Amino acid sequence: MDPRSEVLLRQAERFGGTLLLAGLPADDLLGQLSAAHGWSWQAGEHSALAARFADRCQFGVLPGERPFAAAVLFLPKSAELSRCLLDVLAARLAGGELYLVGEKRGGIEGAARRLQAFGRPRKLDSARHCQLWQVTVEQAPPAPVLEERAQRYRLELADGPLEVVTLPGVFSHGRLDRGSALLLEHLDGLPPGDLLDFGCGAGVLGAVLKRRYPQSRVNLLDVDAFALASSRLTLAANGLEAELIGGDGIQAAPGGLATIVSNPPFHQGVHTDYQASEALLREAARHLRPGGELRLVANSFLKYPPLIERHLGPCQVLAEAHGFRVYRAVRTG
Ligand SMILES: C[S@@+](CC[C@H](N)C(=O)[O-])C[C@H]1O[C@@H](n2cnc3c(N)ncnc32)[C@H](O)[C@@H]1O
Repeated sequence: MDPRSEVLLRQAERFGGTLLLAGLPADDLLGQLSAAHGWSWQAGEHSALAARFADRCQFGVLPGERPFAAAVLFLPKSAELSRCLLDVLAARLAGGELYLVGEKRGGIEGAARRLQAFGRPRKLDSARHCQLWQVTVEQAPPAPVLEERAQRYRLELADGPLEVVTLPGVFSHGRLDRGSALLLEHLDGLPPGDLLDFGCGAGVLGAVLKRRYPQSRVNLLDVDAFALASSRLTLAANGLEAELIGGDGIQAAPGGLATIVSNPPFHQGVHTDYQASEALLREAARHLRPGGELRLVANSFLKYPPLIERHLGPCQVLAEAHGFRVYRAVRTG
């Protein structure tokens, strides 16, 4: 059981009514709280929950229409996303109970201050390195319009300007990452056929690919519903269309690809986690057609080339700058 769920279960008598668990971990909490429903924006956690509690959890950037008398927010990593989600939940909870649970090192104390906007918050528990806060919503805010919480920036590229839209919590919110910028300069000469932007975030790479290779089917894959929603906004802002895939890891990608392009993930929650990136390098060959190519950018210190060479083929460094490298490898077999 996740320690945050354990803290909730120490107060289980509070959570017997219609309850929404927002951003819940993929553990047995829904099994223990039989009247609760889950809302997840992380595809991996959602599919693990859906396998056990199919009609009691949903995936997306909004909590859905089902009414709830109380809600618990599991504190996300991004402070801005946390503020946005607290507003989303409080807007639906006039007179109801809003709870916030999270790890101390995840910044729960600071996030809990936001609860003062809705009423008089109090700390209910502190255990397992976590805290649980509660507020009765006396002043419900207006329901936030997600697009209004987005940041927009414009990139001046050789083939024209590109508008990028990022929602709270999405990688590189409001500015282009240096690694992605380097990769953007090295997207020429890709083999013809279907393309994948793995870990698409706000969709900057996928949008540039679709504009540069309009005949290709372009897939944008991310584990995070807010990233997919941002990608949808970025594509629309530039009059582009592509396939959006919500999924956890490269196994959610289609096969027969001509190219996989990626600035792969290197952080997850408050913990560093290279699992999804290493799985990408190990399994890229299965998703590429023969002659297909993996082109990615990564911090120079990451030891990706040996993994790429073991599982795909010779790994070439196309560029190096600002602590990043762009790698290229072709599936030969
Ligand atoms: C370094 S960011 C790159 C974002 C975007 N491509 C860019 O260049 O700005 C990595 C992205 O991978 C996503 N990600 C993390 N774990 C993932 C997983 N298991 N499966 C798919 N995407 C994942 C993150 O949500 C994040 O958007």
